[in-house]
Amino acid sequence: MYILGIETSCDETGVAVYHSQQGLIGHLLYSQVKMHSEYGGVVPELASRDHIRKLVPLIKQCLTQSQLQSSDIDGIAYTAGPGLMGALLVGACTARSLAWAWNIPAVATHHMEGHLLAPMLEENAPEFPFVALLISGGHTMLVKVAGVGQYQLLGESLDDAAGEAFDKTAKMLGLGYPGGPELARLAEKGRDRFKFPRPMTDRPGLDFSFSGLKTFTMNTLHKTAQTEQDKADIAYAFQKAVAETLAIKCKRALQQTGLKRLVIAGGVSANSEIRRALQQMTQKQGARLYFPRLEFCTDNGAMIAYAGCQRLLAGQHQDLQIFARPRWPVDELLEV
Ligand code: KG4
Ligand code: ZN
Repeated sequence: MYILGIETSCDETGVAVYHSQQGLIGHLLYSQVKMHSEYGGVVPELASRDHIRKLVPLIKQCLTQSQLQSSDIDGIAYTAGPGLMGALLVGACTARSLAWAWNIPAVATHHMEGHLLAPMLEENAPEFPFVALLISGGHTMLVKVAGVGQYQLLGESLDDAAGEAFDKTAKMLGLGYPGGPELARLAEKGRDRFKFPRPMTDRPGLDFSFSGLKTFTMNTLHKTAQTEQDKADIAYAFQKAVAETLAIKCKRALQQTGLKRLVIAGGVSANSEIRRALQQMTQKQGARLYFPRLEFCTDNGAMIAYAGCQRLLAGQHQDLQIFARPRWPVDELLEV
């Protein structure tokens, strides 16, 4: 079964074809980063308009590169949420219309489920059950995953998401958008000079809070001369604090669930200091760490094609309605 995957929840237009037996056939991504960087962040209306321009040509290109005709496609998976409403609607309307024209089913797919299952696209895919740490621009969640659609939320951020904290801190340091990778680059030149707090690690529980860390960063910045080296040292301290906080919480989640497999996914899981901290922690715990390849950490069509394929194989899809939900709790999903 060939599944076309469509991702338009934020600032990347992602398209992919996944085959239920052969695996990933092809994938393409168009990033709007350059357009939004002028404004220092995503402008929702511009994002929607650009998805409209790019999506259909990208689908055509992806089919051609995959040496497939539209008649080969057996189902369409589109990101229905969470995300920016206008951006989601572009993907949802396009997917639903193509599915109607091609007389095939379309399935509304959860963006975070896509991230969560992205490591399944790799050769050393994790087996169920596992603990997943989802760290993106909009979410920070610890989830116990028993199977596809069997998600128990263990903890989440009470304020800023990890990626949001990276982006806002980067802005404070005068870096461009998206801030996460820029901050990581600056931190490479940083020294171990400041000690930042590890928020919410002094009390039990698996929730996160990153807004205090942001304020701490701002105060530290105001107290220094703000040379390039000062900024690099602050970036280093911030990144280390986030990485260690995530590692402490993930260790707790593994201990609490008794599981030995940890999956990390979402844009922030591309961060090498975070990967290093989690690798070290899982090794000490006798557990194993799984993550997608770098290009599938951030938003992409392949993860949506994969996640949607699992639901279509189980006979799950919607009728003719166009489905888009800017907010959509992951534990509301149907079991597969
Ligand atoms: O998953 P994603 O592509 O989009 C959302 O679903 O939000 O995640 C984007 C987030 C942004 O906040 C971006 O700054 C962050 O992931 N990010 C990183 C890195 N690469 C992307 N944060 C820290 N270090 C990185 N290397
Ligand atoms: Zn994402």
